[in-house]
Amino acid sequence: MHLLRSLFWYAAAFTSVSEALTTSLSGERTTIARLRQEVEERKRRLAKRDTDPALLYPERNFSTPIDHFHNETMYEPHSNGSYLMRYWFDATYYKPGGPVIILQAGEAPATGRLPILQKGILHQLAIATHGIGVVMEHRYYGTSMPTPDLSTENLRFLTTQQALADAAYFAQNIAFPGLEMYGDLTSKNTAYLGYGGSYSGAFNAFLRVQYPDVFWGTISSSGVTKAIYDYWEYYEPVAEYAPQPCIAAQRTLTHIVDNILIGKNSTSLTMQLKNAFGLGDVTYNNDFANVLSYGIGNWQSLNWDPAVSSPEFYNYCANISDADVLYPATESLRTAASSLITQSGYNANSSIVNQMLNYIGYVNLTAIQPCTASNMTQDQCFSNHNVTFYHQDSLADSWRSWPYQYCTQWGFLQTGSGVPAGEEPLISRTLDLAYESLICNYAFGIYGPPDTNAVNKYGGYNISYPRLAIIDGEWDPWRPATPHAFGYGAQPRFSTASEPFILIPQAVHHWDENGVFPNQTTATFPPPVIADTQKMEIMFVMEWMEEWALKCLIQGGGCS
Ligand SMILES: *[C@@H]1O[C@H](CO)[C@@H](O)[C@H](O)[C@H]1NC(C)=O
Ligand SMILES: *[C@@H]1O[C@H](CO)[C@@H](O)[C@H](O)[C@H]1NC(C)=O
Ligand SMILES: *[C@@H]1O[C@H](CO)[C@@H](O)[C@H](O)[C@H]1NC(C)=O
Ligand SMILES: *[C@@H]1O[C@H](CO)[C@@H](O)[C@H](O)[C@H]1NC(C)=O
Ligand SMILES: *[C@@H]1O[C@H](CO)[C@@H](O)[C@H](O)[C@H]1NC(C)=O
Ligand SMILES: *[C@@H]1O[C@H](CO)[C@@H](O)[C@H](O)[C@H]1NC(C)=O
Ligand SMILES: *[C@@H]1O[C@H](CO)[C@@H](O)[C@H](O)[C@H]1NC(C)=O
Ligand SMILES: *[C@@H]1O[C@H](CO)[C@@H](O)[C@H](O)[C@H]1NC(C)=O
Ligand SMILES: *[C@@H]1O[C@H](CO)[C@@H](O)[C@H](O)[C@H]1NC(C)=O
Ligand SMILES: *[C@@H]1O[C@H](CO)[C@@H](O)[C@H](O)[C@H]1NC(C)=O
Ligand SMILES: *[C@@H]1O[C@H](CO)[C@@H](O)[C@H](O)[C@H]1NC(C)=O
Repeated sequence: MHLLRSLFWYAAAFTSVSEALTTSLSGERTTIARLRQEVEERKRRLAKRDTDPALLYPERNFSTPIDHFHNETMYEPHSNGSYLMRYWFDATYYKPGGPVIILQAGEAPATGRLPILQKGILHQLAIATHGIGVVMEHRYYGTSMPTPDLSTENLRFLTTQQALADAAYFAQNIAFPGLEMYGDLTSKNTAYLGYGGSYSGAFNAFLRVQYPDVFWGTISSSGVTKAIYDYWEYYEPVAEYAPQPCIAAQRTLTHIVDNILIGKNSTSLTMQLKNAFGLGDVTYNNDFANVLSYGIGNWQSLNWDPAVSSPEFYNYCANISDADVLYPATESLRTAASSLITQSGYNANSSIVNQMLNYIGYVNLTAIQPCTASNMTQDQCFSNHNVTFYHQDSLADSWRSWPYQYCTQWGFLQTGSGVPAGEEPLISRTLDLAYESLICNYAFGIYGPPDTNAVNKYGGYNISYPRLAIIDGEWDPWRPATPHAFGYGAQPRFSTASEPFILIPQAVHHWDENGVFPNQTTATFPPPVIADTQKMEIMFVMEWMEEWALKCLIQGGGCS
């Protein structure tokens, strides 16, 4: 989802990171301060971008029904109204007979996906097929707002089903401005293809299953087709594929913290621990543990293109893996750290004490110092328990849309508590369903689990359909929610041209989506695994288009 970027340092240091990759399902821990920051951050990024693809492709609006399902009581009171769904298209490479290829922008303002039309997989597919590339904004994100505010009642039209119906309605009714000379370009006569990554990947898989007569073929990249309420598995690929000294340190340091917070459960010892980290003013223990989990959450932000990748995961790992002290100021905390380690049941040798001091120094540098500089209190910076915040529901509170979707249908709460007993988690076990659900309770009055069946009914791990491609990343923290979740319930499959089933080696989250300009391309950049995957995607889509041409030939008429 929206990558709720680490509030302060991230905003300052990495504004060049493309929104395209920072907007998929959040790997980082949600905090109110990050939700607030995210809204501001988007405004800044738009202002700072040097070549704004929004200038290349004019923004368009398409009038779309607010409520596609007058037969379903959950949408009562129904609406007969319409809203303006935003989209962009590029017909530069179009030739009659070519497809319309829709990239679903998913759970963020779609402007962040425009680079994919300019140089990513959408651009590449449009060239190869002589197609029209379209970026479509999802209802309740960006400017595509069906209701005047985001109150819980008005969010009732925000379901994956309504959004799928939007995409089908678009394909069946669109008249692209300026392309009138080509005649009818709706799905009646034209092949419609879809692409999406992450939530949008699942969305595209569902689109093919639910609207097979509208969408000729779709690509689901890192598609989280299996909704999971307690998604503790998020950190399992991190544990498996990240540098092992870092993972060992993370497990031990987390265990030390939990042995105190949960094992000792002593107010004074807990206070000593928080004070050692300089977080004595954070009221709730789970908020404190949450701050300690920021660093390890950066794995998802890695990308093969340095221009859109964040180095922070490796910075963090280098900090906590180092057995020498990195921050001299932390020397004054040596006795305190040593005592805490001992009381947690570990042997306080100098390596582990130094690693803990480095952890303290890292948290000081990346979280506390920016908070202090902003003149906010530690609770204002780090707490998720602020009921007043959650009660805001104007259109400006765009942070509400994705949490509403995960509180009602998707789950994916990334807990430490869900990790099986006997395995040491990478984040504290105080980060449990109750904590991760505070936003559901206070923002929407939702106390029960989400209705994951509403999305899992399309097939979950088993989802399949002719001309539905499943592309995943071996190292993706979302892989346990995709059809490549071997070991979690997903079954191996053969890959065919009709149903491609591709696991990109050593890739994280939908790494086939972004691309670079030809003048940046070399024999090794993009890396061969990415270039090869994109070539395969072009090849199987060309085959799908041959099938389309054959169908048109046999059926006659109609096809453009
Ligand atoms: C599209 O609609 C939004 C509001 O929904 C509006 O702000 C924007 O100006 C419209 N854009 C165009 C090109 O009409
Ligand atoms: C409502 O209609 C849609 C088709 O428009 C159908 O898919 C859905 O199952 C119907 N829902 C109910 C509750 O009948
Ligand atoms: C929507 O239109 C139908 C048919 O015209 C009508 O029966 C219904 O009352 C309208 N609903 C609303 C909420 O306006
Ligand atoms: C700590 O102890 C209190 C009672 O003294 C109890 O209510 C609470 O659940 C305990 N917390 C943990 C994390 O075990
Ligand atoms: C520790 O992390 C900070 C903050 O990201 C980074 O600037 C620094 O380079 C890291 N230290 C090492 C030794 O990598
Ligand atoms: C935390 O950062 C502040 C500001 O740079 C510094 O004065 C302080 O010594 C640091 N504390 C520790 C424990 O590193
Ligand atoms: C230091 O202590 C930690 C935690 O008890 C342990 O994992 C590590 O192996 C020890 N290292 C050395 C060099 O003794
Ligand atoms: C914080 O307060 C200091 C001193 O009052 C002021 O100089 C600084 O501009 C404030 N910072 C922010 C971000 O408001
Ligand atoms: C709670 O949120 C409100 C609204 O954003 C804000 O004004 C207030 O400072 C916050 N309080 C804390 C303790 O975070
Ligand atoms: C998925 O497919 C496997 C193998 O075909 C089957 O054993 C399993 O029951 C299916 N699961 C679901 C949820 O349909
Ligand atoms: C590379 O190509 C892009 C797209 O054609 C262009 O905008 C950019 O200026 C070029 N960069 C260089 C360094 O030539």
